[in-house]
Amino acid sequence: MAKDRVYIFDTTLRDGEQVPGCQLNTIEKIEVAKALEQLGVDVIEAGFPISSPGDFNSLVEISKAVTEPVICALTRAVKKDIEVAAESLKFAKRPRIHTGIGTSYYHIYHKLNSNPEEIITRGVEAVKYAKSFVEDVEFYAEDAGRSDNKYLARVIEAMIDAGATVVNIPDTTGYTLPDEYGKKIKYLVDHVSNIDKAVISTHCHNDLGMATANTMSGLINGARQVEVTMNGIGERAGNTSLEEIAMILKSRKHLNLETNINARKIYQTSRLVSTLMRMPVQANKAIVGRNAFAHSSGIHQDGVLKRRENYEIINPKTVGINESSILLTARSGRAALKHRLEKLGYTFSKKGLDAIYEEFVILADSKKEIVDEDLKILAGASSRDIKRKLHLNKLQVLCGKGTTPVATVTLTWDNVCHSATAQGNGPVDASINAVKDILKTKVRIEEFLIQAITRGSDDMGKVHMQVEHKNVIYYGFSASTDIITASVEAFIDAMSQIV
Ligand code: KIV
Ligand code: ZN
Repeated sequence: MAKDRVYIFDTTLRDGEQVPGCQLNTIEKIEVAKALEQLGVDVIEAGFPISSPGDFNSLVEISKAVTEPVICALTRAVKKDIEVAAESLKFAKRPRIHTGIGTSYYHIYHKLNSNPEEIITRGVEAVKYAKSFVEDVEFYAEDAGRSDNKYLARVIEAMIDAGATVVNIPDTTGYTLPDEYGKKIKYLVDHVSNIDKAVISTHCHNDLGMATANTMSGLINGARQVEVTMNGIGERAGNTSLEEIAMILKSRKHLNLETNINARKIYQTSRLVSTLMRMPVQANKAIVGRNAFAHSSGIHQDGVLKRRENYEIINPKTVGINESSILLTARSGRAALKHRLEKLGYTFSKKGLDAIYEEFVILADSKKEIVDEDLKILAGASSRDIKRKLHLNKLQVLCGKGTTPVATVTLTWDNVCHSATAQGNGPVDASINAVKDILKTKVRIEEFLIQAITRGSDDMGKVHMQVEHKNVIYYGFSASTDIITASVEAFIDAMSQIV
């Protein structure tokens, strides 16, 4: 059976841009509009041109820059608004005017100081006036979510008679339940005699976290256009997310509904909007959040590595994310560690992996997330460790302002355990003096370099050391979140080659 087409009406640049602090200039709006065109949206609502010269200008420039999607301008049911909208759309290849008026009890009596009959008359006049400028006219019944269904059906029938090609049923306050909103759409399908002459559009807000569910309920009950924004941005708690609807329809094939969205462009468009609007995407946001495809528990990581579908319903590549990320944390298991080490080019025997896993767990306990750089260090150290004659077992240091640094070192040298305590001018010096007391070998540290690997105070420090013995230079290296330990380990690494 052929699928029904769902039209994606993107209002990122109108409802989305109403968010305080998210305003874009014309150049930025053109960049977003072009990205939306590439993404495959059907309609771009590019602004409310009567509201400011900037909005007007953006509509003019977007109309010139974008050719495929319909370009839509919002108006109130006011003649001047409609004239300005028509003027702003004069370069659009496929212009649409989106006009409308409130239809709920609150809006009729307490916002517009009007009555139900006058509202219909004003709506009809607005649609007819808009129609005198453009063929494609969309009508919105503001606060339709809280409007009486019987009255709403009369309004919608009158607007279609007046020439509306699309009828928008906004849940302006995000109040309805999915079941209620779906029934509202069904009521209109069943009771508006000319409904076949227009497309029904959903426009849901997320005040109770139900925008996507309400939109889906609208589609299931007969709507065929959805008004959405990228990342779900919009007034208050936002609008329905474009990416959520696009991926629901792509993943749940039994619904027999399809869009023109090129899903592979979703992630890059999401990042563009987030960056330009200075509006971070919440980490657990469906489809585009940083954690949407990240697995951190050992059981899930093992499951995903065995077969992605065990814990993923969408292949991240489908939405333009290169691959799911296996986050290495203290909760990760050996399978995830082995997988990541192999990606970095390291292979270990079972025993070798066990040894590095032990080190990994200790490090992961002191650091929130282990990155590839950390692993390279662990893997490198672990291969060197296997061959080493000297092993540091314990290091205890007393230091701080007003105390003489003292260190006690316990190490194994050719399977024999040794301990020593020494002082120094700092904690590293005291520790190295203690090691020297045990090894009793004359050496000189030629170079000593400590560096942070990535960033943050929980980072690992890596230590490079050059130790001179009988005119030969030996290199030592180590890394740890404790830089004193890393320094002693680096010294021991060099000394292992000497003693
Ligand atoms: O939420 C709403 O009702 C709107 C209309 C202006 C379409 O944004
Ligand atoms: Zn809205």
